[in-house]
Amino acid sequence: FKVPTPVNEPVLSYGKGSPEKIALKKALAEARSKQIDVPMYIGSEQIHTNNKIKLSPPHDHQHILGYASEGDASHVEKAIEAALAARPAWSALSWEQRASIFLKAADLLAGPYRAKMNAATMLGQSKNAYQAEIDSACELIDFLRFNVAFMEQVYTGQPESVRGLWNRVEYRPLEGFVFALTPFNFTAIAGNLPSCVAMMGNVTVWKPAYPQIYSAQIIMEIFREAGLPDGVINLIYVDGPTVGEVVFKHPDFAGIHFTGSTKVFQTIWKTIGENIHLYKSYPRIVGETGGKDFVMAHESADAKALATGLVRGAFEYQGQKCSAASRAYIPSNLWEEVKGYILADLKEIKMGGTEDFSNFVNAVIDEKAFDKIATYIDNAKKSDKVTIIAGGNYDKSKGYFIEPTILLTSDPMYITMCEEIFGPVLTIYVYEPADFEKTLEIVNTTSPYALTGAIFAKDRYAIDLATKKLVDAAGNFYINDKPTGAVVGQQPFGGARASGTNDKAGSILNLFRWVQARTIKETF
Ligand code: ALA
Repeated sequence: FKVPTPVNEPVLSYGKGSPEKIALKKALAEARSKQIDVPMYIGSEQIHTNNKIKLSPPHDHQHILGYASEGDASHVEKAIEAALAARPAWSALSWEQRASIFLKAADLLAGPYRAKMNAATMLGQSKNAYQAEIDSACELIDFLRFNVAFMEQVYTGQPESVRGLWNRVEYRPLEGFVFALTPFNFTAIAGNLPSCVAMMGNVTVWKPAYPQIYSAQIIMEIFREAGLPDGVINLIYVDGPTVGEVVFKHPDFAGIHFTGSTKVFQTIWKTIGENIHLYKSYPRIVGETGGKDFVMAHESADAKALATGLVRGAFEYQGQKCSAASRAYIPSNLWEEVKGYILADLKEIKMGGTEDFSNFVNAVIDEKAFDKIATYIDNAKKSDKVTIIAGGNYDKSKGYFIEPTILLTSDPMYITMCEEIFGPVLTIYVYEPADFEKTLEIVNTTSPYALTGAIFAKDRYAIDLATKKLVDAAGNFYINDKPTGAVVGQQPFGGARASGTNDKAGSILNLFRWVQARTIKETF
């Protein structure tokens, strides 16, 4: 590498009396003590409007973190204009100059901004300290540093030339602006989607999911402090249909970098298709969408490791990871033992607000999510195909709390085995060990998604069979591990089928989507 060799940011322990814990407690107290007024960032302006979006912790309805200024169609237009105005100077900078800005941003986040960023993610998105640390600190830092290294590979990789001629490939930014539409569930993804696009010399309009606005603003502050020129990333809060009306009808629309629901992505894709005649180039459509992620166990699996993988995979961050384990297939010889370990683990788990560091489970993101998850649980309670093994209770009086819930079903096609729930609900189907291969087929065909999945087994033939049979069922496949927690630079992340375009986040594959290439052949 010519750039600093990237190394994954170490996860801090937040042990008793540790400097990081003291800093985080201070940042949480500071955030609690005042209300913020978050502007949109368009070009060199910070814009406040009279339409206020209330920002409140999902685990504490009584508390108001502050307000954000919601914009309208005119702000979307202004953001596109600001992006296009910034484009000539930004795209003319050398890649090394652009890289420096993002490396500095990574250092700012690793150091002075870490506590503030984690506090914002804990309060705004209801993540516990560990979940915030691995997301809004480590993963975002990793995205920035590793992407800079991948960026170098993009620009320096060149084709062969034989004597008498010289072949080169030139990479330049897309002609226009890119729209980044980002989710609430990972601050790291929200920061990565606009920044990796910008790294490659593009200009962007970024719309975060509203519950993530609190931490989005800090990302923006960091980029600005690191020296990102005005207009390269424009941060707006405008409702989806209004943004879509302007962005997808704009002749300079050059691409979308998306993480969110399959339904929204498909609507966007159709809209882009309908407007295709308006654009100068075919827009790049890059998206990571839903999942119905599986854990398949073989009769040879280690029951304890399997139980730990299920509890962590299904219930960390309240099951609101697109990668969360949400359906499991367990052989009957292991079930009682696995159940014992799971129930013992769940007994230890506490649920509550994020500021009490002993709480493992916090609130789900908002009322709509709460109601949707509660409906799945209510229907399961009424179904004669389901037994509730754990949890099943919920309460939204103080915050959107739902107990980690495990459903045991006699029907591998029961609705919660098939549909994405995006909450702390795991459904288990127990099969006869002799039906291992048949069950692999069920795993493969039950859902339209293919994001993550896991096989737990000691038997190497079983591992091999599952790896082969489930080749199309998961973009990230884990052997004897939970299906969540991909690490940038180690497990490039992204699925296929209805789960996305498979342009692995934090990888060279993804960065190649944000450049156009010109091949030059010169004959001597
Ligand atoms: N990249 C996240 C994970 O692997 C979604 O859990």
